[in-house]
Amino acid sequence: MSENIAIYPGSFDPLTNGHVDIIQRGSRLFDRIVVGVLMNLEKSPLFTVPERVDIARSVFREWPNVEVDTFDGLLVDYARRKRASVIVRGLRAISDFEYEMQMALMNRRLNPDVETVFMMPAETYTYVSSRLVKEVVALGGSVSGLVPRLVEERLRDKKLSHETLKA
Ligand code: PNS
Repeated sequence: MSENIAIYPGSFDPLTNGHVDIIQRGSRLFDRIVVGVLMNLEKSPLFTVPERVDIARSVFREWPNVEVDTFDGLLVDYARRKRASVIVRGLRAISDFEYEMQMALMNRRLNPDVETVFMMPAETYTYVSSRLVKEVVALGGSVSGLVPRLVEERLRDKKLSHETLKA
């Protein structure tokens, strides 16, 4: 029987506990879940792609059916290469819905064989985003409990400041 493989794509700059929660839920639903870190064209990411991959691999090193990989180009092409029939996305609130619906329908048009599945993170994380995590840290606040310990450490190493936010 063929494996039921899902892709969980994103920027993960950085990985938050909201992402971790979705990946754990996905790993229970699918035979394999591939965390696809987008090699994006964003001008000033905080973490390099290898740093983001390294973090996710460390966090999930004891989860045998979680793979961490990178991709560029169209997500549906990547899904085909990975033999994945599902794209997983987390939906936190109504505000996520419009962007997610556009992407899901565009991806369906590009490849009707790949289905997007939305999952809700635990309510504790519904307000957590990578962008806000960076902002809070840069302004001297604590993100303890909102990101994995390793991410907290790596954020500390980056020595973020007000200036970082302007970059
Ligand atoms: O975590 P993010 O930044 O919201 O993730 C966005 C992501 C990676 C899912 C999206 O940018 C993406 O799929 N990019 C790949 C390019 C692509 O396939 N675009 C057309 C489909 S909408």
